This record gives sequence, structure tokens and C-alpha cells, in this order.
Amino acid sequence: MTINAPRSALTSRQQLRKALRERRRALSDTAQQHAATAVCQQLFTMFTSQTRRVAGYLANDGEIMLGPTLAACHQQTIAVSLPLLHPFTGKHLLFQNYTPTTPMTANRFGIHEPELNSTQIRLLHEHDMLLMPLVGFDARGNRLGMGGGFYDRTLAHVYRLKRRPLLVGIAHDCQQVDTLPVQSWDIPLDCIVTPGQIITLSLNI
Ligand SMILES: Nc1ncnc2c1ncn2[C@@H]1O[C@H](COP(=O)(O)OP(=O)(O)O)[C@@H](O)[C@H]1O
Ligand SMILES: [Mg+2]
Repeated sequence: MTINAPRSALTSRQQLRKALRERRRALSDTAQQHAATAVCQQLFTMFTSQTRRVAGYLANDGEIMLGPTLAACHQQTIAVSLPLLHPFTGKHLLFQNYTPTTPMTANRFGIHEPELNSTQIRLLHEHDMLLMPLVGFDARGNRLGMGGGFYDRTLAHVYRLKRRPLLVGIAHDCQQVDTLPVQSWDIPLDCIVTPGQIITLSLNI
């Protein structure tokens, strides 16, 4: 698929990414720890007895840490997956079961991911919720990522699934903008969770 967008739209997305990434990297360690705890509490108000498996991420570049959330999931027997770069395309994500003893490795971005183990791969529809880090978001559920398009590619066909995970963006409140410039390939979120708010866009929640 060839995806084209006007140059000006792409440039403003790049400028926005730079500004928003600087904003979240400027947060103190204490602020980050409070954010991680608050997001964990928010998410646990959304989990139900039907929540069996959640995909998370390992924080990078000032993203909200999911350590408390993933630990609490393990305690409550909610299974956890983490993303890894697809070994063949390198442009999509796979999700693999993760426990505290899973062997990890650094990927080409220096982000830790589970060592590929085909028996531990979990498909999109096996997840109840996908927690995605955001660089920016708006109140309509639009998502700005780091610019690699990994989640957009991975989720390109998500709406065709009979059963699909809830798409939940995780961000600091300071990453909200009034209106995000959106491209045709951007996959919108069902819900955005910040330390201060839960924005619900979808009737599936
Ligand atoms: N479904 C897709 N198929 C092919 N390429 C895609 C797809 N989704 C996104 N991309 C490519 O990924 C690149 C980055 O996407 P973008 O939405 O800007 O990043 P991010 O979502 O990480 O903020 C774009 O240049 C786009 O061409
Ligand atoms: Mg995108």
C-alpha cells in the first residue's frame, strides 16, 4: 500500500511530536511515578471480571510506565502481553505473553521486548484491551505516536475482527491537544486514560 499525505500536514505532525515529547520528558521522576500509579488505578476501574488478557508496553522516552499496572494484572490473574517488532516485516508488532520470568531482549530502538517464542504469541483477538503509548491525543480519540506507524499498521484490519480488543491510549494529561491533524491510516482509539481523566469514545465500553 502506498500512503501519501500532504507535506505540510506531515511537517506539522513532526513539529507537534517534538514539542509533546519534550513536554513529557521534562516530567520529574516523582511526577512519572505518580502518573504510573494513577493510571493503574484508572485502568483497574475499567477492568471487569471478563478481562482476561491485556497488552501493555514498556515505557520509553517519558511515556507513562505501566509497571504498577502489569504487576497488579499478574496478581489478579489477568494475563499480560507485550509487543515485539515483527521478525520478518520489521514494521508490524506481534504480541507475546509476558510474565516476570520471560526472557527479554533490546530491539533496534533499544526498547526491551520479549524474546520471540512462537508458542507464546497471542493474536489481536485474544486480547480484551490493548494499551498503547501516545505522544499526543485529542478529545476525539485521535492518536499521535512516535512516527513509525507501528500500531496503525498492526491494527489496520482490527475492525474486521469478530472480536477485537478495546484500543486504549495511555498518556500524560500534558499530551492533550485541541485538534490533532489526522491521516487516513491513523486508527482512532476507543478510550484514552491519563492520570487525571478517562475519555471514552466508543459505545463498546
Ligand atoms: N496501514 C498502513 N500501511 C502502510 N503504511 C502505514 C500504515 N499506517 C501507517 N503507515 C505508515 O507509517 C508512517 C507513520 O505513520 P504515523 O501515523 O505518522 O505514525 P504514528 O502513528 O506512529 O504517529 C506513515 O508514513 C505511513 O505511511
Ligand atoms: Mg498514526
